[in-house]
Amino acid sequence: MDKTPIAINGTNGHVEQSSVLYRQLRQPPPKVVRSKGHYLYTDDGLEIFDASGGAAVCAIGHGHDRVKKAIAAQLDEIEYVYSLFFTTSAAERLSTLLTESTGGQMSRVFIVSSGTEAVEAALKMARQYFTELPQPQKQRTRFIARKQSYHGNTLGSLAVGSHPARRALYEPMLSANVSHVSPCYPYRESNGEDDETYVARLAQELEDEFQRVGPDTVCAFIAETMSGATLGCVPPVPGYLKAMKAVCERHGALFILDEVMAGMGRTGTLHAWEQEGVVPDLQTIAKGLGAGYTSIGALLVNQRVVAVLNQGTGAFMHSQTYQGNPLACAAAYEVQRTIQDENLLANVREMGKYLGELLKKRLSDHPHIGDIRGRGLFWAMELVKNKETKEPFGAKEQLAWNMHLAGLEHGICMIPGNGTVDGVVGDHIIVAPAYNITAQDIDLIVERTEKALRSRLG
Ligand SMILES: Cc1ncc(COP(=O)(O)O)c(C=O)c1O
Repeated sequence: MDKTPIAINGTNGHVEQSSVLYRQLRQPPPKVVRSKGHYLYTDDGLEIFDASGGAAVCAIGHGHDRVKKAIAAQLDEIEYVYSLFFTTSAAERLSTLLTESTGGQMSRVFIVSSGTEAVEAALKMARQYFTELPQPQKQRTRFIARKQSYHGNTLGSLAVGSHPARRALYEPMLSANVSHVSPCYPYRESNGEDDETYVARLAQELEDEFQRVGPDTVCAFIAETMSGATLGCVPPVPGYLKAMKAVCERHGALFILDEVMAGMGRTGTLHAWEQEGVVPDLQTIAKGLGAGYTSIGALLVNQRVVAVLNQGTGAFMHSQTYQGNPLACAAAYEVQRTIQDENLLANVREMGKYLGELLKKRLSDHPHIGDIRGRGLFWAMELVKNKETKEPFGAKEQLAWNMHLAGLEHGICMIPGNGTVDGVVGDHIIVAPAYNITAQDIDLIVERTEKALRSRLG
């Protein structure tokens, strides 16, 4: 048996023979043995502030007693039923909470186990919608998405996403029925235009794409309400999503908002679209829905889409064994009630403002920080080699990942992102802490982030 020590990504290494297929097969990540509140504790004694919330997941911190109790109570009631045969109070309660949170605009909820599955379901729902219209439009098979987006990792969700590095290996297997338009990325792509002109240009680009592929062939346009993993916390320019929805409406296509990362309170409102004056036809959520206490995602379906299926076949042609899992629903329901009862969305807005201000105050003068942007408790710093020209670091330098490692060395976990500029080059790091954070916690996050950054970039 090979017992050669392998360094663990810059932390104190230890080696165990493992059956786990790690993300990096030859590099076991640090082992977390306990978590509580905002902290993770590793087996070699590190105490790490979880400023990433995993991957922007842990909305109420770790080890919340209320959620633990709710999961245990659900185990006593019913742990699993097959959704083809039965429903449960847990699934009913969570779905009602979610539809009510949209003021009834989204009138049905399809509960799955991840963000990827929610996106996959959205794509299928969009297609089915057009086959069940009173005048079916079966020629609609295409999707228009955006460059530098991420929507998940199954073949369908990967096809609408646009991260060349993640797609490359599978490119020959991905649907050719997807095309990509520019993201809304003012830092690099607005050419100094005012917001209105920039939005008009992006809307025209979408219009042109509809015309190029044939407006009556498109099922939907899909976008992250606020760009997350690939672009790094870019809020939409005012009016952008409204303008994109208007183009969809003009051509009878659906408007899908992917809120897997930015939704469920992360940006200061439960649904990120609430701040944009638009309502989607289909909406995906995950991460903050279960906040890490369970694997759960969901597709929210607008009443107008539901009405078409209701009058059509009356059945969504898609299902999964763990759909509507009662344990997952009970956990997510308690997470959401905790967010409500502890008034955490107000805290996201207040602490988010403080976090953004402090990051800018301490780091915007740094020669390698090109942009600091975000909303709510979802902030990114884009790293550049040259601040004047915005030239990025080379992809080979793996700067974002090295920043993540530097963070661990300084007792903080941050999310690294690459491909920011064009899907290949460009680096950013994201902080996305729990909603119940205090101002003191934020002081600590910024202090450790700064130390980590300066340890690598001076
Ligand atoms: C916007 C968006 N959509 C979909 C996904 C995929 O979700 P999951 O990793 O839960 O499958 C992600 C994950 O980061 C995401 O950020």
